[in-house]
Parts: sequence; C-alpha cells; structure tokens
Amino acid sequence: MKKKRVFSGVQPTGNLHLGNYLGAIDNFVNLQNKFECIYCVVDLHAITNHQDPKQLKSNILETVASFVASGLSTEKNIIFNQASVAAHSELAWIFNCVSRIGWMNRMTQFKEKAGSNKENASVGLLVYPNLMAADILIYKATHVPVGEDQKQHLELTRDIAKKFNNDFKCKDFFPIVEPLISKDIPRVMSLRNGKKKMSKSDDSDYSRINLKDDKDLINLKIKKATTDADSIPSEISGLKDRAEAKNLLSIYASINKTNLEKVLKDFGGKNFSTLKSSLSETIIEKICPIGKEITKLLQDEKYLTTILKKGTNKADLIAKENIKEIYNLIGLTKFT
Ligand code: TRP
Repeated sequence: MKKKRVFSGVQPTGNLHLGNYLGAIDNFVNLQNKFECIYCVVDLHAITNHQDPKQLKSNILETVASFVASGLSTEKNIIFNQASVAAHSELAWIFNCVSRIGWMNRMTQFKEKAGSNKENASVGLLVYPNLMAADILIYKATHVPVGEDQKQHLELTRDIAKKFNNDFKCKDFFPIVEPLISKDIPRVMSLRNGKKKMSKSDDSDYSRINLKDDKDLINLKIKKATTDADSIPSEISGLKDRAEAKNLLSIYASINKTNLEKVLKDFGGKNFSTLKSSLSETIIEKICPIGKEITKLLQDEKYLTTILKKGTNKADLIAKENIKEIYNLIGLTKFT
C-alpha cells in the first residue's frame, strides 16, 4: 500500500468567511491527524483574474493567518504558497502539453467564470485546471479534499495522470487521485439568498459571516438572515424548495459537528427564531476566537513569513525530486 498524501489549495482572498471555514479549513484541521497533509495558498491561480499587487500580498498572509488561527498545525502540515515552489509552474506547462483543448472546453467552471465574453478571458483562466492538476501531482498526492464545484477538475487531474503514465510508458507514476468529499460538509450559501454561494464578492455584507466579525455583528446578521414563514420540519423532505431554511439548518449541523437529520429531530416543529439564537451562540463561540487570533497574527508579519518559508522548504524538497524524474521521463534536461 502506498502512503496516503492529502493536498488541497485555497485561493488567497482576504476576509475569509464561514463558507471557507466550514467548507474547507475546518475539514483540513480534521484531516491533519489522519494523513500527511499539504495545504497550499494558490496565488498563481488567483492571478487568472487581475489582482492588485499590494492586496494580493496581504491576502496571501491573511489566508495563512486564517489557517493557523483555525487550528492547522505548522508542524504536522506543510503550509506554503504556490509561487514559492517553481515546480508547480514547470509541471503546469508540461500538463498544458498533455491535456487536450477539448478537455478544457468542457470545464463548467471556466464557462461560469469567463461569463458572456469568453474571448476576453485570460488564457490562464482556461488552463487553470492544468495548474491545479500540477499542484496535486507534483507531490503525487492521493487524496484531495474539495467541494462539489471542484469535482470536475479532479476528474481532469485523473485523466491527465492516466494520459501521462500512458504516453511516457510509466505505469503508476502519477497516482489516480481520489476526492475527499464528505456529505456532512455543507456548501454554505448566502444568508440572503439560499441559491447563491456565500461569497466575499457579494455586495451585501449581510450575506456572509466573516471570520473577523464581532459578536454583535454575527448576532445581527443571523437575526436578519432570510428564512420562510413555515416552521422547521422534522424530516429532510420538508426542506424541499426551502433553500434558505436548509442553509441555516446545515450551517447549524456543521458547526455543531452533527448532521441534518439530528438537527431536524431536535428542532422539528419549532420556529426559526429558536434556531437562530442557538445558531448565533455557537457561531460566536467558534468564530470569534478565530477572528481575534487572525487579527493578532496579522500584526506579526515576520511570524507568518517564517511559517511560509518553513513550508516552502519542505514542499520544494519533494517537488524538486519529482520534477527531476518527470523531466527524465520526458527527455528534458536542466544543464545546470
Ligand atoms: N481550484 C480550487 C478552488 O477554487 C483551488 C485549488 C487550486 C485546489 N489548486 C488545488 C484545490 C489543488 C485542491 C487541489 O477551490
């Protein structure tokens, strides 16, 4: 049995929110005790859309601060940023040559992100999934925790691995990665519109709980969160066409580390104000200490930089060794 290795990436956005926490980081914290884990701030993915240079730099540090404040160990895990390890870009180019244009054209995320003017999207946005495959395979990672929206990119990673192994006659060189998608990890939706994902780019700050929100603001946002006039059902079937109700209940389940069935058993028949006050309490208890820790960590840039350097050294060691083998397989030589 080959050793299991987890890899995941998070885009450097400032102002991380409850969706980032429950949908990704909290799960990373869980996995750190079970696997060897590599967590990467994917700054090269971020620039597929124009970023303000100063803002990008500070967002990278804030993402690392959020990882650490949420309980990710810098000892157990490798925490670093993508731009620090050159082999990500090197392998991404190789995969640009392995991957097929037809595969890219099928990617639904590109279609969504490029919007109506596809001709004007960056080429980087189109080949974004090849870089993602490189992130994972440069470490020969076997397991990748991602949300539903990234499943198609993981399928592509598998296709690239198979084609490379086949083209260069190196069976089993790249592992065929498995997604780690847990049904208890919710897709956290906007507090104002249950059909939209919670997002930092939503115009309304009331649509999300930011990790740095204080107690009063969290209370207010949950109080104002959209629900409907019906009471809470006791069965999941009672949540059909009730996206906002389902969202609040799923957040409640996730943050309390239980599941939707159990929450419905407890709250079935009650009204939403009861759920909301209990939900606010739990969110405040969980999120406020993290927010305070993020603010504190952000004042110590040197410490955050040290974490990234340490992670980079460890990641680079693995990546350099693998890129050497990959170059060999292809017939490329670095005459250094
Ligand atoms: N595309 C991922 C997202 O937007 C981020 C990402 C980049 C990633 N590289 C990765 C996730 C490698 C998992 C593995 O969420």
